Amino acid sequence: MATQLGVSHGLATLLLLLICLSSAAVAAAGRPVARQRLDVRTHLKRLNKPALKTIKSPDGDIIDCVHISHQLAFDHPFLQNHTIQMRPSFHPEGVYDESKVAKPDSNKQQKITQLWHVNGKCPENTIPIRRTSKDDILRASSLKRFGKKKHRTIPHPMSADPDLINESGHQHAIAYVEGDKYYGAKATINVWDPKIQQPNEFSLSQLWILGGSFGEDLNSIEAGWQVSPDLYGDNNTRLFTYWTSDAYQATGCYNLLCSGFIQINSEIAMGASIFPISGYGGSQYDISILVWKDPKEGNWWMQFGNDYVLGYWPSFLFSYLADSASMIEWGGEVVNSEPDGQHTSTQMGSGHFPEEGFGKASYFRNIQVVDESNNLRSPKGVGTFTEQSNCYDVQNGNNGDWGSYFYYGGPGKSPNCQ
Ligand SMILES: *[C@@H]1O[C@H](CO)[C@@H](O)[C@H](O)[C@H]1NC(C)=O
Ligand SMILES: *[C@@H]1O[C@H](CO)[C@@H](O)[C@H](O)[C@H]1NC(C)=O
Ligand SMILES: *[C@@H]1O[C@H](CO)[C@@H](O)[C@H](O)[C@H]1NC(C)=O
Repeated sequence: MATQLGVSHGLATLLLLLICLSSAAVAAAGRPVARQRLDVRTHLKRLNKPALKTIKSPDGDIIDCVHISHQLAFDHPFLQNHTIQMRPSFHPEGVYDESKVAKPDSNKQQKITQLWHVNGKCPENTIPIRRTSKDDILRASSLKRFGKKKHRTIPHPMSADPDLINESGHQHAIAYVEGDKYYGAKATINVWDPKIQQPNEFSLSQLWILGGSFGEDLNSIEAGWQVSPDLYGDNNTRLFTYWTSDAYQATGCYNLLCSGFIQINSEIAMGASIFPISGYGGSQYDISILVWKDPKEGNWWMQFGNDYVLGYWPSFLFSYLADSASMIEWGGEVVNSEPDGQHTSTQMGSGHFPEEGFGKASYFRNIQVVDESNNLRSPKGVGTFTEQSNCYDVQNGNNGDWGSYFYYGGPGKSPNCQ
């Protein structure tokens, strides 16, 4: 059992790339129960690093403050001698402000933040990590799939194969650009708590930074908010990231659930609940996400809001994205498992159609891309795509305040969507 870390002793290169798949993680299905229990325990031990401080969040989460150099990323053999980059060498919004990384700052507390903050903060030189529970793992279809998306969930507008889309059960309402080299993307998204009909469904709103064809080697970096009962055990709206370099097969995961993303920020926990949430006809709360490629080191950085540089995905994780992205997408995705043979009532965005507009529909505003000169600019030639506009729709626009924006979402099942 303990040999799953044998990869770090220099097995085949292929294995090195599959660090997320410890031998403990391979094919739990069909094994004797006692063995599976041991596998789960071993996997939990790998994921949950010893904490210097632990904070209990009102939503039931346990946040472990783990020393920055003890995070899971450094179990990766390619990162054994890695020197952590404590700041990006380049920021597309101009002069880089040191205070964005980790310094606790009382001025920030008024802004949208994470629920666990009400019960404490992580000390300097630690990062907050949402502790994985045994139940989290047992909800997954297998140990191997825990923390991973199912295959082929990326909308591919240009060659949308209706059969494939409907078969996979994933539905999208997105805006996108392609045909250029992109070095990042930004958006401000308002945050909602869409209802999920079945625990195995989810609803998310995110941006995708895509490289390669839509084949087996698709590279993707993703970030946004999601409601996923399977992944988290509740209906809370949570900040998430995802990455893969092989179309969701062996590499990559949500948040910090495998070696990959290197976090430097002590205030924001991946996978933690976002607070507060927008109300229908009430106050609107939005989050900003910026992902960009550092032209010097090649790493892909992520910033949350104006203040929090979270960390980076090292360039070596990727093939196409080691150079640049070929497509950017922004928007919503839900799983439609067609319970009872009918369309799911799982909501996307606010659960209301774009027509309802501000205060009622979900939006992405000031969507931007980082161009070949490393400048943030409004994207040109934005397209929109949805599989079934009678279930979830998207409408884009442009104005002075919001730049390039769109409203998206819908209720799912209705008289017009069965
Ligand atoms: C890390 O450093 C050690 C000692 O210098 C060296 O033997 C090893 O090959 C290095 N590992 C990597 C992945 O560069
Ligand atoms: C998916 O299936 C639905 C219902 O069967 C159908 O109305 C819709 O047109 C299909 N989507 C696409 C993109 O063909
Ligand atoms: C999530 O919401 C659904 C209804 O939308 C409810 O049936 C379910 O019990 C909720 N799950 C949890 C864990 O609260």
